[in-house]
Amino acid sequence: MTAGTAGARATPARAGRSVAVVLAAARAGVLAAASLAAAAFAQGSGTGAGTGAGTGAGTGAGTGATTAHAARYAELCAACHGPRGTSEMALVPHLGGQPSFYAITQLFLFREGRRNDHPLAAAMATIAKGMSDADLRGFSEFIATLPPPSAAGGGTRDAARFDRGRALAFQHHCTGCHGADLAGGRQVPRVGGQREDYLLIALKGFRSGVRLGYTNAMGEALAGLGEAQIEDLAHFLAHAVAAAAPAAAAAASSSPR
Ligand code: HEC
Ligand code: HEC
Repeated sequence: MTAGTAGARATPARAGRSVAVVLAAARAGVLAAASLAAAAFAQGSGTGAGTGAGTGAGTGAGTGATTAHAARYAELCAACHGPRGTSEMALVPHLGGQPSFYAITQLFLFREGRRNDHPLAAAMATIAKGMSDADLRGFSEFIATLPPPSAAGGGTRDAARFDRGRALAFQHHCTGCHGADLAGGRQVPRVGGQREDYLLIALKGFRSGVRLGYTNAMGEALAGLGEAQIEDLAHFLAHAVAAAAPAAAAAASSSPR
């Protein structure tokens, strides 16, 4: 709570200082970014726990924000991201089950115009522009309560590409940060079952350095990977639907080639 309280003083000074906060976070690493997110949570509910996952009930102030933002999500966000956070729209990411810490920081980056490596990023930035810190918190808490995508994030699964992508994901420690089930946690996004078209843009953005992260972790994880390997990774992630990923991976590896 101490880090959160200190950060909470910094975030309301939106225009100039909050950009500095994010850039400092990008330089200083995960801890600074985590306290940025914690700060925004702390302003409302005072818990800062960021649990969200399906347990909205009984958290006092947090519940109020989530209910109001559920209605605004339906009105403002569902057309692109889907009413339950599963996007049917090309290039638009699924949001369901994203950790609230991850979501709030991304909304912050959009609001400040710092995330712009995607052909539709301007649309997202326009939407985020008018959000208050309470909105960032309310939307991200609500997003965390939406169900993770239950079907693969695109097209037909190609066993050879899936296997190559899975091998790369272990070699390059993707699962070390994103989790064996690729569900993410705190500042690390859920990537299992995400749309393949969106994943490709995200991975290329990190590899080329145009997409800003908390640290250079993603740039380092992707260093030296070629185009075909990035495509295999995106294919694997899209078809590794979170809950089923370990079993599906095990079955794939034991099947004869
Ligand atoms: C016009 C379509 C559109 C609408 C409406 C829209 N979004 Fe988005 N959203 C996008 C696109 C496209 C991206 C990916 C942009 C990028 O990668 O730069 C995105 C990205 C995001 C992300 C980051 C996801 C990730 O995996 O990093 C969050 C969080 C988000 N949107 C929340 C919202 C919320 C909350 C609303 C409503 C207030 C909303 N969006 C409305 C198109 C939309
Ligand atoms: C050291 C931890 C770490 C490692 C290793 C790592 N990631 Fe990440 N990844 C992150 C974090 C943290 C983010 C959020 C963006 C940021 O702040 O850098 C992220 C973001 C992403 C995103 C964007 C998701 C979205 O919704 O926009 C994708 C896709 C992704 N990682 C895939 C991978 C793949 C594939 C690998 C392995 C080649 C990998 N990651 C390795 C920590 C890691």
